Amino acid sequence: MEDGAGDIYHLSRDEEYLSRVTAEAEFFDRPSLMGIDVGSPLTDAYFNERFTGDKNVAWFETIPRYGTFRRGCALGAGGPEQRARILEQNPGLHLTVHDVSEESLATLERRLAGRFPDRVTTKQADLNFVELPDNAYDIIISSNCFHHLSNLEHVAYQVNKSLTADGFFFLTDYVGEARFQFAEEKKRVLEAALRQAAVRRPVLRSWQAVWPDAADWTYSPFEAVRSDETLEVHAPLPAGGRAPHGRAAARPPALRQTAGGRGRRRPSGPTVRPAPSPRLSVRRPPHGRRRGNGRGSAQS
Ligand SMILES: C[S@@+](CC[C@H](N)C(=O)[O-])C[C@H]1O[C@@H](n2cnc3c(N)ncnc32)[C@H](O)[C@@H]1O
Repeated sequence: MEDGAGDIYHLSRDEEYLSRVTAEAEFFDRPSLMGIDVGSPLTDAYFNERFTGDKNVAWFETIPRYGTFRRGCALGAGGPEQRARILEQNPGLHLTVHDVSEESLATLERRLAGRFPDRVTTKQADLNFVELPDNAYDIIISSNCFHHLSNLEHVAYQVNKSLTADGFFFLTDYVGEARFQFAEEKKRVLEAALRQAAVRRPVLRSWQAVWPDAADWTYSPFEAVRSDETLEVHAPLPAGGRAPHGRAAARPPALRQTAGGRGRRRPSGPTVRPAPSPRLSVRRPPHGRRRGNGRGSAQS
């Protein structure tokens, strides 16, 4: 992190914020939470189909269709296997990885260093205040990190200015209700769907939905903090350059959900599209409390 005196744009002086972001980093420093890769075969297949049109093809497998990349940046450290696959498929690529969690970065480094010597650099940084180099990266990727960020406009601006003219931004993330505070109707619909599924699959009969409780928060401090605004922040601005809520942009971000580009050739495959990510945690009542995001014991 930069620590320029008088530079309030790049380093918060808000003590409450600083203590919360420290807690966020410590949350992801815990070993059980590091390196979360994609969940189960069923959810993988669903997301793959939404993103690439093919149940068997993950979004990151499509990167080579967009070109040959050399200088990459990853916003968020997690998912070592995903990062490894990206490096494997893009042999000329060097990745600079930013994350606020020192341990997550160390784990990623340990997992990748032997396989991809000199191709990964890690930087501990609070992305809410990060300063990325201008016109530096031909690819920027981020998966499941943006829904932990509060300064979305700043990060979008940084991504936009740091991409080369023909660069691409790949973003995959949870973009639903902030803090997972779903409407009652939506909860009832999902509960009904669960009951219906249990008719066909008896194993589900003892399961019940557990909805995240804002008053009894078991997730990280910034979990889903502005996840309902991510798409709006990244949407191209309408003519006149002013966003729906009066948000003025210093420079309109040319970003897209999951894949965004500024001139490089378009892939011939299916359009990469955002997928809704409902967070339904289920539990078996007799086995105590187990709140989560449907990805095993990991909470993000
Ligand atoms: C849910 S994990 C993502 C894990 C992985 N990318 C995946 O696909 O499952 C969220 C990541 O965002 C990081 N993070 C949260 N807030 C951050 C911040 N303000 N700046 C940088 N990284 C942050 C956490 O340390 C963690 O590594």
